[in-house]
Amino acid sequence: MNSSLLVNKATNTQSAIRLPVIGANWKLHKDLAETESFFEKFRSLVDDFGYCEVVICPPFLDVATAVSAAEQTTIHIGAQNLYWENDGAFTGEVSGEMIKASGCSHVIVGHSERRRYFGETDETVLKKLVAALEAGLTPIVCIGESERKNVESVLEKQFRCGIAPLSAEQFAKLIIAYEPIWAIGAGKTATPAIAAAAHRLIRGHVTKRLGAQAANQVRIIYGGSVKPDNAQSLMAQEEIDGFLVGGASLDAVSFAALVNLCKSEEKSESRINQSCNYV
Ligand code: PGA
Repeated sequence: MNSSLLVNKATNTQSAIRLPVIGANWKLHKDLAETESFFEKFRSLVDDFGYCEVVICPPFLDVATAVSAAEQTTIHIGAQNLYWENDGAFTGEVSGEMIKASGCSHVIVGHSERRRYFGETDETVLKKLVAALEAGLTPIVCIGESERKNVESVLEKQFRCGIAPLSAEQFAKLIIAYEPIWAIGAGKTATPAIAAAAHRLIRGHVTKRLGAQAANQVRIIYGGSVKPDNAQSLMAQEEIDGFLVGGASLDAVSFAALVNLCKSEEKSESRINQSCNYV
């Protein structure tokens, strides 16, 4: 079965609906004790994780604690970065193989803060994507414009140089996060219409490069000041397959509210109807 498509629990069959992804990007927050108490609370607030792919990405040092706290659940643990070499004299770096061996299944690649503060480029993003895929990790690759102008050309370049060189087989394992930098941590979310238009643009590039089937299957999630009170209208957009959440993922109550949003039967139904538009 393709794990990115929804399973109908009654018939155990897959539909063409993309399984939503709700990702937590904790950035440089939480120590071991805070990680443990987050999971204890969060697990008690979600009674069924099967309606979406929940991915929690803590700092590296918290990964082992998070992996054991997520045992017996379908919560996935991810890293926030990786290096493209597997070993060698690269002080301070962590490889995809190490991340995989620590129990992670996902890794964030090319977050705008990495591009801005740590010199990452489309070229290094591509190297990291290849390394993550070779290690058997699911990359969540971030793209997005810094200001609300030149959106089309920025997304086109980031896609063309950082993602498009992947083969169809490699691409099939990616999750793309559209994160307009002007909305990250700013309390300024993109409106549902703005976000959906950018997602359509990205999906259009996928269609051109890899065809309609690849475009229909890839999950494109939105990130940038997502909170329980703005999530519903974003999620209602056909093009938005979930979220990558920073600030609101640090609190178990608000992150659980975002996960629980995926449970609504009505939403699943509307996604079925909407996805027929381009199947
Ligand atoms: P934010 O961060 O939700 O705090 O805006 C999102 C992100 O940077 O991934």
